[in-house]
This record gives sequence, C-alpha cells and structure tokens, in this order.
Amino acid sequence: MLNFHYNIPTEIYFGKGQIENLGPNLKKISDHVLLVYGGGSIKKNGLYDKVIEQLGANGISYCELAGVEPNPRIESVRKGVEIVRANGITAVLAVGGGSTIDCAKIIASGSCYDGDPWEQVLDKSKITKALPVVSVLTLAATGSEMDGFAVISDLQKNEKWGTGNDITKPVFSILDPEYTYSVSAKQTAAGTADIMSHTFENYFNQDKGAFLQARFCEGILKTCIKYAPIAIAEPENYEARANLMWSSSMAINGVVSYGEGAAWAVHPMEHELSAFYDITHGVGLAILTPYWMDYVLNDDTRWRFAEYGKNVWEITQGSDEEIAREAIQKTRDFFRSLGLPSRLSEIGITDEHFDVMAKKAADGGMAYGFVPLDAEDVKKIFRNAL
Ligand code: NZQ
Ligand code: ZN
Repeated sequence: MLNFHYNIPTEIYFGKGQIENLGPNLKKISDHVLLVYGGGSIKKNGLYDKVIEQLGANGISYCELAGVEPNPRIESVRKGVEIVRANGITAVLAVGGGSTIDCAKIIASGSCYDGDPWEQVLDKSKITKALPVVSVLTLAATGSEMDGFAVISDLQKNEKWGTGNDITKPVFSILDPEYTYSVSAKQTAAGTADIMSHTFENYFNQDKGAFLQARFCEGILKTCIKYAPIAIAEPENYEARANLMWSSSMAINGVVSYGEGAAWAVHPMEHELSAFYDITHGVGLAILTPYWMDYVLNDDTRWRFAEYGKNVWEITQGSDEEIAREAIQKTRDFFRSLGLPSRLSEIGITDEHFDVMAKKAADGGMAYGFVPLDAEDVKKIFRNAL
C-alpha cells in the first residue's frame, strides 16, 4: 500500500429531512450566497421551495444562477463569477447533480482569480483560493458532493477537462435520497454506470497490497448491481436510492483510492465523447467500459479480473481466464439490462474525430494506467466500441 494523506473535510448530512440543516449551517459561513441550479428539475420536485425556505428562515439573502447545463459550460461559470463579483456574494450553494455542483466549484474559485476561469480548468494549480461551496445533491452519480473535482466544457473548442483540488471540496453537503425519486430511469442508469466506473478506475490497479481498498470497491460494485435495477423499477424505493447515493460519494471521495495509484483510463476516453458529442457522461462510460476491459485483459491483469468475477459476480466455476471473460460479459449485460446503449453508433457517434479524440485522451495520463495505453490503443478501443 502506498503512503497517503487522508483528507475528506466535507461534512455530510444524510437522510430524510436533512434539509433542515442547510440554513443554520450555511448561516455560519455566509449570509449572502449564489444559488446555482440546473434546468428546472428542482422546481418540479419541490426542492427549490424548501431551499428558499431555509434561506429565508435563517436570514440568508441570495442571487440565482439557473440553467446550468448537463456537461456544464465555461460560459455558465463566467456568468456566475460576474454575479458573485457584482453582488458581493460570499458562498456558492449548488442544488442539483454533478453538473451544477461542478459549475458552482469553479464559480467559487474563479471569483477569487484574476484571470479567466477557463485557465483554472486547464491548470488546477491556478486554483489557490475559493469561496466556500455547499451542495444539496439530487442525483447519485458523480460524487462531486464529496470531492474537489469539477469537469467543465468549452464546446466551442470541443474541450472538456477535469480540474479542482482540496480547496474546491464542498464544506458540507445535504444528501437526502428522497430528492432522487424524480430522477429518470435513464439518468439513474447513467449515474450507476458512473459510480461503477469511478470504482473500476480505482479497482483496476496493479497494487496487490491495497487489499482493503479492493474489498471496499467490490462492496460498492455489488451495491450498484443490487440496487440500480430496484431504483429503476421502483423510483421511490428509499433503500435503493439511499444505497446508490452513498455509493456515489464513497466511490470518489478518496476512501477507495488512497494507498493505491493508477491513472484513470475510461474517463479520459469518455470526456472526449462528451466534448465532441455532448452526450450523457454515464452513457459513454457504460459503452466504453466493457471494450476497455476486453482490451486490457492480459497475462499481467488477469488476476484482477478473476477477483472481480469471483468477488463481485460470484462466479465459482472455470479457469481465471474464463472467469475474467465471463465477468466482462456480465458487466456488458448489466449495463444493457439497465437500458443503456452498448455501441457508440447507437448514440450517433462515428469515427470522424477518433484521431484527435484518441490523442487528447491519451495525453491525459493514460500512459500511467492499469495498462499503459497510447493514442493508437485508444483509437482501437473506440473502433471496437463502434
Ligand atoms: O438540470 P436539471 O433540470 O436539474 O436536470 C438534470 C439533468 O437534466 C437531471 N436531474 C438531476 N437531478 C434530478 C434530475 N431530474 C429529475 N430529478 C432530479 N432529482 O439529470 C440531468 C443530468 O444532470 P447532471 O448534473 O448533468 O448529471 P450528473 O450528476 O451525472 O453530472 C454529470 C457531469 O459531472 C461530470 C460529468 O463529466 C458531467 O459533466 N463529472 C464530475 C465528476 C466530479 N465532479 O467528480 C466526476 C465524474 O466522473 C464526471 O466526469
Ligand atoms: Zn465519472
């Protein structure tokens, strides 16, 4: 196991009715906030009213930035920074999914930065100061509610990059699974694929000594496999929504990655799909993951795939190679069973931009992954997934 510094400062209020903790705790940080939200789901499900009530009851005034897009744009970040500066805002409150929270984080850092916030997206070391960020989560997927990352797009340039650091971690987050009852089957499935992908990105590493982290990962994967179909069939099943929500945070808050190190592989590839085609992040991950697994299964990596098959899918028969292959097939079948597509062509993606997409993905550190991959490898995976 590698050395690590455990640092998860975000406080979590988890469960029914935890919105009651929003106002009193926010008041300790700020009495003038920027309320950031997406395209309106929080107005439909009543959460907006509850948030406004909390602000009012605790004497917190606010400005709003509404309409943050899925795959949040740098233009929204710039708009938020302007509002913060024009109104003397002192904290950013995100109410929504990962896109809203990510946008809020870079508004928070961009407001304390002299240059254009896109510079902070391209270079996270330029994030040295940020307003406090608080989130109320409405979609179990990215884990943005408990990590420092933010993924921002400039679709004019077909660019989508992750940034952020400890400074952009939310001060506290409200996680009430009931707020995810209104999440569609498609977003529930995509969110689950995202949680599983974060877990895979950490699980598939060559460090046999990080035994505990691997078992944590298997627990998260089993949880997703058990509860995603239930949440899709019964959107108001609290137990299912609660388990998915907590898995979302645990998959990326550091607990499963501390002490083992491998650069992520499927995420850089997916971010190129989103950058060029503006697709739902989890959909891209669900398509690419099994093809990436096929591609990196070899003599050196078979042990981990066999562990995955035995411990997660409970496969008991066969050689390690057979178990590994069966586990990959089960992964593919599982995503399909959630209604997710399994080929890029199903979502209108062609090979038109594969050269540039593969190069950009590979330049993002894939040479240091579970299996080092270069642009040619990435292109082959894209082609296999067509
Ligand atoms: O915009 P609204 O109207 O709120 O609707 C959203 C949006 O259309 C809807 N939604 C959210 N909560 C809902 C709801 N609909 C009904 N009821 C609710 N309770 O769902 C749609 C998708 O929302 P979005 O926030 O885009 O989804 P997600 O949470 O999956 O975030 C995706 C973004 O996060 C990035 C992705 O790349 C993508 O840009 N990521 C962020 C990470 C991080 N910060 O750590 C890591 C991830 O790997 C990921 O890259
Ligand atoms: Zn992700």
